[in-house]
Amino acid sequence: VSTTRNPDPAFIDRLRELAGPHGLLDAPEDVAPYLVDHRRLHHGRTPCVLRPDTTERVAAILAACHEARCAVVPVGGNTSYCGGPTPDASGTQVVLSLARLDRIRSVDAADFQLVAEAGCTLRQVQEVADSADRLFPLSLGSEGSCQIGGNLSTNAGGTAVLRYGMARDLVLGLEVVLPDGRVLDQLKGLRKDNTGYDLKHLFIGAEGTLGVITAVRCKLFPRPVTLETAFVAVRDPLAAVALLERLREVTGDAVSTFELVPRIALEMVLRHIERAADPLDRAYPWYALIEVSTSRDDPGLREVLMATLSEAIEREEVADAALAASGPQRDAFWRLRETIPEAQRHEGASIKHDVSVAPRRMPEFIREGTELALRLAPGARVVAYGHLGDGNVHFNLSQPPAGDREAFESLAPQIHRAMHDLVARYDGSFSAEHGIGQLKVGELERYEDPVALDVMRAIKHALDPHGIMNPGKVLRSNPG
Ligand code: MLT
Ligand code: ZN
Repeated sequence: VSTTRNPDPAFIDRLRELAGPHGLLDAPEDVAPYLVDHRRLHHGRTPCVLRPDTTERVAAILAACHEARCAVVPVGGNTSYCGGPTPDASGTQVVLSLARLDRIRSVDAADFQLVAEAGCTLRQVQEVADSADRLFPLSLGSEGSCQIGGNLSTNAGGTAVLRYGMARDLVLGLEVVLPDGRVLDQLKGLRKDNTGYDLKHLFIGAEGTLGVITAVRCKLFPRPVTLETAFVAVRDPLAAVALLERLREVTGDAVSTFELVPRIALEMVLRHIERAADPLDRAYPWYALIEVSTSRDDPGLREVLMATLSEAIEREEVADAALAASGPQRDAFWRLRETIPEAQRHEGASIKHDVSVAPRRMPEFIREGTELALRLAPGARVVAYGHLGDGNVHFNLSQPPAGDREAFESLAPQIHRAMHDLVARYDGSFSAEHGIGQLKVGELERYEDPVALDVMRAIKHALDPHGIMNPGKVLRSNPG
């Protein structure tokens, strides 16, 4: 039995007061966007959406909800792939949007850091860093709308992980409101600080189940000055892995992006995305989008890249390659990669897997996974693409072109099971960068080590004894 309760009208009035002017939405048209997730897989209800504009207001709201046993669902830019910020269907969970906490509190270029409030969009953080002649390297397709608090709450990945790490690696400190309303200030941001448990890491990737991140001290880097981008036809994923290894060695570890793109994904992009053009003269089965970069002016980098590609052509690991000759051409190459999810949406239903295995085992995994998927869904189209450099591909299936959407979608549970069992055999992860949300709670229970699950439940109970924080996400609200 859930410990949370249905908030009565008097309590909603109290929340309205605590959220401050313009801090509570309850008109159906205002609330509607918060009731469905980005992929439109999950639908819920809520009595209201709270939009406080300060940490103090967030703290007051959580203290009141803790006392009243009212469930709270935090939301950032609502771009999750797993339904993390969508309330359940009970209509008793209030939604807490961080969008109005959107100030940059400080920028310290000399110390390579800045402090952003949770509701700043990722792009806003990138732009502020850029104007201080610094780089905030987290980069992903939804960066114009996702928020930094959500990026941390889900430990987002993206296309620069190979060089700079996941969101978790890009944080020096956090400010978090605990479920009982106390503010945990871990914003000091020292590079070295071994004073007990490193608490910030509990909240990163917790998807709002342990508290609400309200501000982030972000790690900055020197801005890339020399940037070379190549769109390369690789023989197969095995050749791609070999090329990546070689490039890391010869460039002084300057590879910042290494993304795998199969022909079928490029074709979808060419079909559906305006102004998309194939950079190469003829079709090849596999491609890699590669970027190498350094923070100094280094004309030699382009030469090293070209020489390495030529050697790979001699070894028949690479068939052809185009190097971006200008900024707009670079952007065009990037668009071919970043619009794959959008292009795939135009191809009907898809069944998605966000998996990781050791990069050297990825070629074998893709081969075996493809055979398995096609046995279970004959005629489906396998679109396995993404972050090969991180050992993470989005192993997605698109429905057969002329097939029935519902019939294909009904295969999803069976295909997920088979693919995730395969991932487990490869000692991989069934959720590399998209998290658990509500979509993969059962998968976590099935595949996670029982000892790890026990520890997670103990932490959840210690911090959120009444279970008010984002119930039913990551962990089931009523285990057993
Ligand atoms: C990507 O890398 O494009 C995203 O993570 C989205 C996806 O799963 O397709
Ligand atoms: Zn991705």
